[in-house]
Order: sequence, then structure tokens, then C-alpha cells
Amino acid sequence: MAGTLTPDFTGTSVLVTGGAQGIGYEIVKYFLDAGAKVSAVDRDAEALKTAWDGQENVRQVAVDVSDSAAVAEAVDGIVEWAGSIDVAVNNAGITRDTVVWKMTDEQWKIVLDVHLGGTFAVTRAVVPHMRKAGSGRIVNVTSFTGMHGNVGQANYAAAKGGIIAFTKTVAKEVARFGITVNAISPNASTAMVAAIPADRLAEMTATVPLGRFADPAEMAPAVGFLASEQAAYVTGVVLPVDGGVSM
Ligand SMILES: NC(=O)c1ccc[n+]([C@@H]2O[C@H](COP(=O)([O-])OP(=O)(O)OC[C@H]3O[C@@H](n4cnc5c(N)ncnc54)[C@H](O)[C@@H]3O)[C@@H](O)[C@H]2O)c1
Repeated sequence: MAGTLTPDFTGTSVLVTGGAQGIGYEIVKYFLDAGAKVSAVDRDAEALKTAWDGQENVRQVAVDVSDSAAVAEAVDGIVEWAGSIDVAVNNAGITRDTVVWKMTDEQWKIVLDVHLGGTFAVTRAVVPHMRKAGSGRIVNVTSFTGMHGNVGQANYAAAKGGIIAFTKTVAKEVARFGITVNAISPNASTAMVAAIPADRLAEMTATVPLGRFADPAEMAPAVGFLASEQAAYVTGVVLPVDGGVSM
């Protein structure tokens, strides 16, 4: 198999949450390589610096996505910097795993606040700009767990399942403004996956038809497609990029 299929994002302003490491880092890199101006939003200012200091066309935005007022302010700053927000990728995430009967209010709340609250905050802030432009692309990041559940992840499953429902609802709300809203469901070797105990990880890997967790860079082209002109007639879908796990 030869060739690449990277759409051209020259002149496009892209916001990526969780853009300091893991899947988000690779998504930022993908859009940069495709010519975009990219705002990497992450709560970890040090990790943002390590990742992006000295890199042209990246704006480092040190913001916690669960803080909706800070997100709104950050989006205003990005529009001032880039002139628009054409693509928003809601990727930032955390886990606080434990079985439901041991889960604290804090573990429940923070996971919902970051995933679902953050996706809401960014979406609410970018949609008016996309409406004004008459076009836009929102790509959310959900999970197999959000569709099928997973022991020890009631908070995460509820948040990721909520993101799917949110994706479909907002897709219906904004379709008439030329804005699409989709999601990917990834499966990649990142810090989040490294935190899974080895025996559990081996069990999980055995369930992947393609036999491995992906390199996080393998997630980015799917986001690129959903963010591209070519995907203008695709909205409200969840695209699994998971080696076949969800079959
Ligand atoms: N890795 C996988 O296999 C997998 C599977 C399914 C879903 N996901 C989802 O993909 C996304 C990225 O995961 P990853 O594996 O790259 O994780 P990661 O831990 O490597 O990266 C997550 C990034 O999000 C940032 N972040 C966390 N909380 C934040 C907040 N409140 N505000 C702003 N930034 C914040 C972190 O600082 C970090 O840079 C997450 O939403 C995760 O749930 C990952």
C-alpha cells in the first residue's frame, strides 16, 4: 500500500484539547504537518512547553477544560490569534478507576467534569464562531468503554457514553449551520494505557483482532478525515479506530 491521504489544512485554525501528550500530541502534530495553525489546550503547562516550545504555528493554551469560564476566555484568545476556529477536537481526558462501591464523590465528579464538562465547555464556546463562519468541524474522543462498559470505570464509562449522546445531539443542533460533530473511539498505547496493570493489559490486548494497541499517531488521520472537506456529509457518527475491538 503506497501513498498518503492527508488533507490540506493550510489556513485552518484547529483547537486540540489534551494537546501536550499522547493522542492529543499526535493530533496537534498531524494538523501542523498539514498546514494548520493549532492551539494545543492542556492543563499541564510544563508538558505543553516540553512538547511545543520553539514550534511555529502552535499556540500553547494552559487551561483546565473543566473550567468553562477559562475555556471561554481561551477560545476568545485563540480567535484573536488565528482569526477563527474551524476545527475543535475534544480529546483531553483522565481516569480515576475503581469499582463503583469504592468510588468517591471526587473520583466521580472530576472524570465527568473533565470529559463531559470539558467537551461541553469547548463546544459551547466554539459553536458561535463556527456559526458565524457558516462551517466547522467538531471531533470528540469517546471510548469502547462508553459503549460497552468496563469494570472499575463507572465514572469514565458514564462520561464517554455521555460524549456519544452529546455528539449526536449537537450534530443535530448545528447541522443547519454547516457544522459537523463526530467522534472517534481510539485504542492506543499512551500514558493512560501504561497505567493499566500488566495482566489486565495482556488480557485487553488479546481481545484486539489486529493483535496490538496502536501507536497514538495512528489515531490522528481518522480525526483529520472527520475534520476535512471530504467529510462534509458525515455527522453524528462514532468512528472506532480500535483495531477491531468493537466489532
Ligand atoms: N489511549 C487509549 O487507548 C484510549 C482509549 C479510549 C479513549 N481514549 C481517550 O483518548 C483521549 C486521550 O487519551 P490519551 O491516552 O492520549 O491520554 P494521556 O493521558 O496520554 O493524555 C491526556 C492529555 O489530556 C490532558 N488533560 C487531562 N485533563 C485535562 C484537563 N482537565 N484540561 C486540559 N487538559 C487535560 C493531560 O494533561 C494530557 O496531556 C482521552 O479522552 C481518553 O479518554 C484513549
